[in-house]
Amino acid sequence: MAAPRILLIIGGGIAAYKSIELVRLLRKAGYVVRCVITRAGEQFVTPLTLAALSENKVYTSLFDLKDEVEMGHIQLSREADLVVVAPATADLLAKMAGGQADDLATTLLLATDKPVLAAPAMNVRMWLHAATRRNVATLRGDGVTVMEPDEGEMACGEFGPGRLPEPQAIKDAIDSALAGAPAVVPLTGQPDFAPANHRPLFGRRILITAGPTHEPIDPVRYIANRSSGKQGFAIAAAAAEAGAEVLLVAGPVPLPTPPGVIRVDVETAREMAAEVEAGLPVDAAIMVAAVADWRAADTAPQKIKKDGSGQVPPLALAENPDILASLAKSAQRPPLLVGFAAETNDIIAHAEAKLARKGCDWIVANDVAADPMGGETNRVHIVSKDGVDSWDRLPKHAVARKLMEKIADELDALIPSRSD
Ligand SMILES: Cc1cc2nc3c(=O)[nH]c(=O)nc-3n(C[C@H](O)[C@H](O)[C@H](O)COP(=O)(O)O)c2cc1C
Repeated sequence: MAAPRILLIIGGGIAAYKSIELVRLLRKAGYVVRCVITRAGEQFVTPLTLAALSENKVYTSLFDLKDEVEMGHIQLSREADLVVVAPATADLLAKMAGGQADDLATTLLLATDKPVLAAPAMNVRMWLHAATRRNVATLRGDGVTVMEPDEGEMACGEFGPGRLPEPQAIKDAIDSALAGAPAVVPLTGQPDFAPANHRPLFGRRILITAGPTHEPIDPVRYIANRSSGKQGFAIAAAAAEAGAEVLLVAGPVPLPTPPGVIRVDVETAREMAAEVEAGLPVDAAIMVAAVADWRAADTAPQKIKKDGSGQVPPLALAENPDILASLAKSAQRPPLLVGFAAETNDIIAHAEAKLARKGCDWIVANDVAADPMGGETNRVHIVSKDGVDSWDRLPKHAVARKLMEKIADELDALIPSRSD
């Protein structure tokens, strides 16, 4: 099989130096890498470094006649399997969202017929600015995979989301995007999302849980799982985009709150159960959180210490409340109750058993052996009494939008009159 080809566009951000490590990782994995660097990007890394590491010519200018002979700009935009923008500056995101093409990078991004993945990096205020929020939502709506930036201390000294994801995380996202590429941008050009003015959930109230729970053992240790919260947050974002009033009960995850979503943060399964109950009544509840089945039966008030005897302290477990099953039996059971199931084997059979056991309406099952938790894509099967609806592998935001369409149709059938 031919090596995957990446067109890497490097914007003018302080994190541009990390693109050097990204090129190294991609080359090590056998990818063919061609770099394009913006004029501002050249202030941070040199084309020479990128050329040496990528072992390929680096492109900087649209109006370079020699390049148009060797390699036309349209050809450059098409010959890759994936276009990656890292770092994606606020400026590049704005130009991409607006369809501008005033330099080589933006012209290639407009001319390409290949999937695009952007790894943003900018100051926290720039990332949280309403204009950037709008641009990111537009780009995601257009089928561009926009990664969430990391959260932490920034080069400018401020703290929050906006740091470029680590090169390894970008490489992982590239692997996922390539695995799901045909489903992300169908060659027909038909988008897999609803247009911005399409609000099929307007007037609906939707409750979503997301992320893991942390069950304390002592003040410094806890029982947890690998849930990243990305799918649940994408669902909350898609529900809000579709016009719903959204309450997101989130376990401990460092993800930004999607625009228009009311978020309540919790730590433990019992806190999550209480917040879910407090959030009722709703038209639909989507229980995406990976709630810990067990907690420590007793939480030590102080840190448990090694006593040097070699004796391991006993860890007794107690069962946590089953939030989904309790909601199904509740007097305020939502008309549509959707559970999630992360399975490693016999996905459909386990999901069917879970559907019957929990008393919910749908189980959205995903294969976490093939889709490790924390990845950018998901291949889901919607299991209901009507059968199994299996979807192609899609970016998590695309799964979220498709699920919202299905939920809107179901709610229209179940409760035709809305609260508006
Ligand atoms: C020292 C310095 C660091 C910068 N870092 C960033 C950054 O991390 N992210 C960003 O969006 N813009 C950053 N900027 C601003 C961009 O360089 C500027 O918006 C530029 O027009 C981006 O051009 P480009 O998008 O064509 O690469 C920085 C500017 C300076 C002077």
